[in-house]
Amino acid sequence: MSASLQATTLQTRPLHPEIGVEVLGLDLSRPLGAGTIAELKRLWAQHLVLLFRGQSLSEEQQVAFSELFGSLERAPEGKWSSSRNPAVLRVANTTETGNKVDPEHMFQRYFATLAALWHTDSSYRAIPAYGSMLHALEIPPSGGNTCFANTIAAYDVLPAERKRLLEGRHMVHYYGFSRLFEPTLPPISADDLRAFAPVTHPLVRTLPDGRRCLFLSANVAWYVGGMPIEQGEALHRELIDWATQDQFVYSHEWRVGDLLLWDNRPTMHRVLPYDKSYRRVLQRTSVAGTEVPV
Ligand code: OGA
Ligand code: MN
Repeated sequence: MSASLQATTLQTRPLHPEIGVEVLGLDLSRPLGAGTIAELKRLWAQHLVLLFRGQSLSEEQQVAFSELFGSLERAPEGKWSSSRNPAVLRVANTTETGNKVDPEHMFQRYFATLAALWHTDSSYRAIPAYGSMLHALEIPPSGGNTCFANTIAAYDVLPAERKRLLEGRHMVHYYGFSRLFEPTLPPISADDLRAFAPVTHPLVRTLPDGRRCLFLSANVAWYVGGMPIEQGEALHRELIDWATQDQFVYSHEWRVGDLLLWDNRPTMHRVLPYDKSYRRVLQRTSVAGTEVPV
């Protein structure tokens, strides 16, 4: 057997019974072998969230690592993107030159409000993101955990009557809905409105390997087709509450140097509150999806 075909075994440690493992012993700033990459893809598909501790990745190194899994998304509006690299989103309360930003600044408030709601990144796209990656550069002494819910596990144990109700239903996802949470923001540009027109996605998504998951997003999804608005809102809320029970959720307490990957399709995530007088700086990349949700 040639070296590249040998199975690579990576050491892992569970983060939660239902979701997430830590992968040990890798330095992601260095090139990885084909066997290691294949094993990471297998682990990612199985556990949905992967954690690597003790990393130190420049923007370019994080981009190179992320591109092992596909091409990268560029976020709408560009407000949070790195000036050096449009594929890198600065999830940060500092400027690029390191100054703390006023937490009441409208764009800070907007991002904080949206990230605090359970959501799925870029579900407003016709083809939503496959995966996202956050690398922690500066972290407050406490709070600011990012929580991840396994929506495959949540769907599996949904009562049969609920599964029947959801079958074939769709919800509208629209980037513009997010403005409702911060209505004083300047309007979305005509280009972004065109690029991110409303889309409909199934409430229950079937992944290419056949696993089924709930596909929800509190910050951009609204209006369940075939139902009065209030009834759809109540159903969406009920499903998010269901999917985010403790038994489906891993809450990640950040350390500087962490790199966390999540499969964005069968998960939801949100950030927990923290004292906004502290600096919190993470760098994010998102791998574009390849399939229209079905
Ligand atoms: C994100 C996000 C949460 C956090 O970057 O997509 O939701 O913990 N971030 O900052
Ligand atoms: Mn997010």
